[in-house]
Amino acid sequence: MPGENRMIWHVQLHSSSSAHLYSTILAKIFLMEGRKAGESFIIMNEFVLPNDTNTFGNLMGGRLMYWMDIAASMSAARHCNFPCMTASVDNLSFKNSIKLGNVVHIEAKVSRAFTTSMEVHLKVWGEDIVHQYRYESNEAYFTFVALDPAGKPRPVQPLITETEEEKLLYESALRRRQLRLILAGKMMPHDASELKALFVKD
Ligand SMILES: CC(C)(COP(=O)(O)OP(=O)(O)OC[C@H]1O[C@@H](n2cnc3c(N)ncnc32)[C@H](O)[C@@H]1OP(=O)(O)O)[C@@H](O)C(=O)NCCC(=O)NCCS
Repeated sequence: MPGENRMIWHVQLHSSSSAHLYSTILAKIFLMEGRKAGESFIIMNEFVLPNDTNTFGNLMGGRLMYWMDIAASMSAARHCNFPCMTASVDNLSFKNSIKLGNVVHIEAKVSRAFTTSMEVHLKVWGEDIVHQYRYESNEAYFTFVALDPAGKPRPVQPLITETEEEKLLYESALRRRQLRLILAGKMMPHDASELKALFVKD
């Protein structure tokens, strides 16, 4: 059960004088275990109402990003069971606008966990319930960082992949991470070994 280990940890914390040592050991075991990608899967549906639209009668991009951020943060928090902060949003390009009265269908799943951060993969569709069809809106990657009570980044458990799609997303996550860290000024391009490997052959 997700969270079962955390419950043991809390019980130990309140019932023993060596609580700190115990909690540290149990937290380390918890972090080593890993969690299946499927456990972080979130589906979120929203009905597009007049207040959500632009002057063309379509869903506003900003409103969609807001819902995507919520779905992704739930997914990240489900993986690590800690409060999470949005660190970055990769480029978003909207393929089709979502119309007033349609449903927004968002799916979010953690695609890789690093040390304190997690990449969440999102897929978004519009759905016309009356005429019974779905259309693609966009696909995106959000990065979240798990925070401790002092607001500092804290380690998260590794991700265990099962399906072919999960494995592919996991493998490519390192390149996306290097690209976003370069763009954020947090990594020097010459340190991006995974990205370089795409262009430079030995
Ligand atoms: C995100 C944040 C918590 C990172 O904290 P930090 O002190 O910079 O911590 P670090 O540099 O040690 O990075 C911690 C992790 O975040 C990742 N990270 C930091 N900036 C990032 C970025 N722009 N994109 C992706 N990942 C990022 C690091 O790679 C690291 O991941 P890892 O531990 O898995 O390797 C901090 O920058 C922050 O609070 N930013 C504001 C977030 C916010 O307000 N979000 C809401 C939007 S309004």
